[in-house]
Amino acid sequence: MTLIHRQPNMQFEGVPGHWCNNIEFGAFFLAGSTGTPAVEPFLNQVLAQAKAKLPPQHRHLEDDIDNFVKQETEHYKIHNAYNAEIFKSYPFLREGYEAKRADYRQFLASKSHKFNCAYSAAFETLALSLAVFLFEETDEYLEGADERTLNMWKWHLAEEYEHRSVCHKVYQAIYGDYFYRVKSIIFAYRHLGGHNKRIYQQIMEHERADMTPAERKLSLERERKFRRKLIAFQLPKVLKLFTPRYDPSPAKVPAGAQAILDHYALASM
Ligand SMILES: [Fe+2]
Ligand SMILES: [Fe+2]
Repeated sequence: MTLIHRQPNMQFEGVPGHWCNNIEFGAFFLAGSTGTPAVEPFLNQVLAQAKAKLPPQHRHLEDDIDNFVKQETEHYKIHNAYNAEIFKSYPFLREGYEAKRADYRQFLASKSHKFNCAYSAAFETLALSLAVFLFEETDEYLEGADERTLNMWKWHLAEEYEHRSVCHKVYQAIYGDYFYRVKSIIFAYRHLGGHNKRIYQQIMEHERADMTPAERKLSLERERKFRRKLIAFQLPKVLKLFTPRYDPSPAKVPAGAQAILDHYALASM
């Protein structure tokens, strides 16, 4: 696998919080962006620590780790720039970001490397499924969407696809403990889901404060519909994670993602 360090030039001045027609779908991604610069520096530290722990026969993973760190660093830098604009209209989001960041600091300070590595691998499975979801399942939400926001997410999630197997391979190379991996998936999904839900609900409380009762009812219906779709998409993918031979490497490239990867690779040359 060759991971490319792309450095897109993205500007977000005046980028809208309502970036697509479906406020609830949009808020789900706003919540995701809020937490991105909290989790990605954590992943980078965990993988940097992993380099010294790789058994000799797995040293070839060092290059992938370096490139993974470069990609994730670019992700959180871009999301920080995006979030700085979004936080002007949604200042309360800083609190959600800080809460998540505090958790990762605590993980690094007090949890084992095995825990952090398994958590990172679990996180990356979620990033991979979100990539497939965005590219293949969300056309109904994206007509007329803000191009800068959509391009940011497409670039980011296409790279999540590209580096999908790095954390898994590193965990397997150093620890390879199946039951611990399964336990960590359950922990990580609950942990991430809890944070994302709290941030999402804050956004939606803010949005619904100005809605009429009829608009509010419609908003809640759209939210239920989106949730149902997301769960129906995620569930079979989560079940596959629990198989002992789970391997993200053969996952096929989401429709349209390769064009995005090629475009930003050229733009970074
Ligand atoms: Fe990322
Ligand atoms: Fe990632």
